[in-house]
Amino acid sequence: PKTAPVLALETSCDETAVAIYDGGLRAHALHSQVALHAEYGGVVPELASRDHVRRVAPLLRQVLDEAGLGTRDLAGVAYTAGPGLIGALMVGGATAAGIALAHGLPLIPVHHMEAHLLAPMLEDRPPAFPFVALLVSGGHTLLVDVRGVGDYRLLGESLDDAVGEAFDKTAKLLGLPYPGGPELARLAESGREGRFRLPRPMTDRPGLDFSFSGLKTAVLTSLPKAASDAERADLARAFEEAVVDTLCIKCLRALEATGYERLVVAGGVSANLRLRASLRERTRARGAEVFFPRQAFCTDNAAMVALVGWMRRAEGSPAVAALEVRARWPL
Ligand code: KG4
Ligand code: ZN
Repeated sequence: PKTAPVLALETSCDETAVAIYDGGLRAHALHSQVALHAEYGGVVPELASRDHVRRVAPLLRQVLDEAGLGTRDLAGVAYTAGPGLIGALMVGGATAAGIALAHGLPLIPVHHMEAHLLAPMLEDRPPAFPFVALLVSGGHTLLVDVRGVGDYRLLGESLDDAVGEAFDKTAKLLGLPYPGGPELARLAESGREGRFRLPRPMTDRPGLDFSFSGLKTAVLTSLPKAASDAERADLARAFEEAVVDTLCIKCLRALEATGYERLVVAGGVSANLRLRASLRERTRARGAEVFFPRQAFCTDNAAMVALVGWMRRAEGSPAVAALEVRARWPL
């Protein structure tokens, strides 16, 4: 039953996003700041905060209109409270707190990585609990044992760079523009297989932790001087294959360790097509199944925040009165 629309704001990094969820996704809108940060080769926090301020009100208007709702129809206001850039988080948080205060609505803080983790629940065939979740974004690489909403146990994590970060740094080494992940994936499409061989870090010993900083260094040392475009594409392909293979090995190992048959993969890097194809094939070969969000909900968005906000409210969690944001916040 569709009830109690929850409005959500996501401003943790470089996308301003607003959505409404009421048991189904009623509306969602997003403005990406990619063009704004491109010339700096990465996200400039102060510019991000200022742009969120500029974009958030028009996006709110757009989403309420699309849903055919007014703020008085809402049952709660959710916002990404962390982890993320503190100034950027403040913009979404303060806007959400203002709306909640004006209309006497519960204010619902949402953990950004929990939102990524539950994003596949927005799809037509949501995964049943329990499952293993691989969360791969620009700031995090986590393997999580998920027994239910709010019931999370960390199985493994990266000891250094996050996967998305490794994609972005390697893309930079290959001379690609920001944001590097999708650019590197595009370049890898034209790369030849087997031209370069890169390591699969930490797969030769037991355990579910990751390390990706060495892979970036391996790319640097493999990169020929005055590399041709073809060589750069070959190296991009080798990098992508090494990352995908490493992630697959650890995911299958986590399924084995937990005895679960379902794997959920979410966060920006889960948009990667080679990763999606490999995981589909390798989980199927084991009699397991993998679930992803649709491409648009792999990277940052407010639909996933609205979903979690709506679940919190449905659980009857106490309304949080004060606005609170956290740059660092373990899941
Ligand atoms: O989840 P997200 O949008 O933001 C964070 O919470 O960090 O993830 C962004 C990360 C970036 O590092 C970006 O390069 C990476 O996800 N990414 C990709 C792809 N699309 C986004 N990496 C590899 N292949 C892609 N297709
Ligand atoms: Zn994210």
